[in-house]
Formats: sequence, structure tokens, C-alpha cells
Amino acid sequence: MTLIPMSWSRVLSPLLQPLRWLVRRRWLREAEVDAVLAWLQPGWRLNRVFARVEGREWVAEDMLALRLRCNGNARGWRAGQHVQLYLQLDGVRHSRSYSLTHVGRAGRIELAIRRQPGGRLSNRLLDHLPVGALLELGQAQGELCWPQESTGVVLLAAGSGITPLLGLLREALARGFTAPISLLHYIREQGQRPFVEELQQLMQRHPNLSVRWALTGQVQSDAELQGRFSAEHLQGLALDSVLACGPAGFVETVAQHWRGPLQVEAFTAPERSVEPGSAVRLGFARTRRQVTGDSARSLLEQAEAAGLRPAHGCRQGICASCTCTLLSGTVRDLRNGALFAEPGQLIRLCISAPASDVDIDL
Ligand code: FES
Repeated sequence: MTLIPMSWSRVLSPLLQPLRWLVRRRWLREAEVDAVLAWLQPGWRLNRVFARVEGREWVAEDMLALRLRCNGNARGWRAGQHVQLYLQLDGVRHSRSYSLTHVGRAGRIELAIRRQPGGRLSNRLLDHLPVGALLELGQAQGELCWPQESTGVVLLAAGSGITPLLGLLREALARGFTAPISLLHYIREQGQRPFVEELQQLMQRHPNLSVRWALTGQVQSDAELQGRFSAEHLQGLALDSVLACGPAGFVETVAQHWRGPLQVEAFTAPERSVEPGSAVRLGFARTRRQVTGDSARSLLEQAEAAGLRPAHGCRQGICASCTCTLLSGTVRDLRNGALFAEPGQLIRLCISAPASDVDIDL
């Protein structure tokens, strides 16, 4: 039943501040407030983001653009950030992170989803998600931003790494960015060029934009570029700032070849050796469990091995779904070795390993 339209719930959302205040002080339960709001409008919640599917469009043979309209809790989002998308499959809640290729007015956004061989969630979204369906999203995260002062921007994308860069590119051109922009997109086959018609139209309308596709799988005589990224692909480009997005190995290779201003986003976690480290005590306070762990693996892996089921999403330190409070002890950030030992500090379980005995609020 829908008693009020989604657009009204967006307008009315700021008026719910007193209820949010009461929930923060635990005088009201959020789940009960949400139940009433959802009765009025299925996509309305006090704090959580829900979005209605307004359109679907295949933009490559293996990629679908989903156009969504969010409730009033999606605020301050930017194209190029990513959001966690949640879906219940056979009674189990799954989630994946997808980039925002467009952020428009009145809660309208676009996500592009690529088919993953054997990927249950992506395949369900691509093949069975109807227009009109309601989805839950997390809040947008991500630091990529357009280098507005740059005199020459090079965008390097591999696979679905095109999605955040396309979002940034569309906005920059709409704002009138006039310095040279070169986009190089690495894909396996010709049919996997997402948004190809739109990019070709953008090149015609904006002479400062050039787009080239490099085929990494199929050898094709008319391909503009062939093979994986190498430094020669940058030759002749107006090069001042680089934004690179794709698998970890791809962005690492770019970082080895370009020492200037660089922003990167990797879709997969860098390889890290999991050697048996020193034995440590892991205390999970809420579940009152104590187990022996090691100082090499992430707290997320070790909590799961101990039979706990912590909330998580990307498992790469991006989505923040696994954030937890450190109660005591020291943890090490697996990405850069930084140590954190302040009680009460928020840590991400998927990228934190214990560096001493630890207690966490889990
Ligand atoms: S699971 Fe996404 S940050 Fe840990």
C-alpha cells in the first residue's frame, strides 16, 4: 500500500529530526518508527536509504545501467563515489559495492552493474530486477574527485573501473571543464565498451575530450590500442593529473609509471601474504567469546573463523560496513602497516589485523 508518493517522503524527511533525536536518546526504537514510515510509503525510513528502480538500460553486452530514485536519506552524494547495495537472496542478505555514474536532482542516481561470471548478486540484478523494485543502499563513500585546476587529465580505467570515472567525467564536462581530457579504457573485447555511444557523442560535443579503448583479450586489427596498460600508452597525452580505477594490479602498475598527481581506486584488495603470525587473544565483547588468533589475518576473517557473522560488504576497506569499536589492544592496518591503539576507536575489521591481544565490540 502507498499512502504518499516517494517525492513527498523526500520533502517531509527533514521534518523527522525530532524523531531522530528521540531515537538517538533511545526513547524511541528506530525499527518501530521505520515500520510506520514504511506503511505510509514503502521506501520511507528514518535514516536508512531505500531507492526505487526507475529504469534499466544495457550499456554494453555485460553491463546494465540502473536508474534509481532514493528516499530523503541520500544527501550530499557525488558522482564517482560508491554505495553498498543490499539484496535478500534465498533468505540471506547479500551486498556489493557499485559506483555512482550519475547523481541528479531529487534523489535520482545511476549505478552501472557489470555481469560477474558466477556472481549470484550481480546476475540476479541484471536478469531479474524489475523496474519498480525497491532496494536498500548504504551511504555513499569514496574520495575520488575531479582535479579542477589540472591542465591535462588522464583517466585510466580497467573493466568496471570506468564507472566512477564516467561519473566524474560527465560532471566535469557539464560544468564546462576545458583542459584536455584523455580517457583510456582497458577491456577484454569490443562488445564490452560501456556507454560507447554516449562517449562518442561527448567527444563530438567537447573537442578537449579523447576516448580510446584498449583490447586486452581479443586481438583485433582495427583496435586503437592492444594489450594491458604500459607507459607507452601515455605518450603524446596532455598529462598533468591521472585518475586510475580498476583491479589492484592495474592501479599498482599505473602508480609505478606515473609519479605526478594521482588518484586511484582499486576494486580488489591487494594481494597480501597470510603467514601464521604470533598467537594473540581475540576478545569479542558482545558475544562474550575469547579465542586464540594470529597477528597476520584480518579481524573479519578471524571472527568468521570463530563462528561469528560480522556485518560486511566489500572486504577491501571501502564500504565501512564492517566498522567496529576497538575496546583494547593494538590493531595494524593491513594496507599500510599503521598501528591503532586508542580504546573507542572505530576500525574496519576487514583491513585490520591484531597487533596484540585485542578486545572489540562484536
Ligand atoms: S567490509 Fe567493506 S570496509 Fe570492511
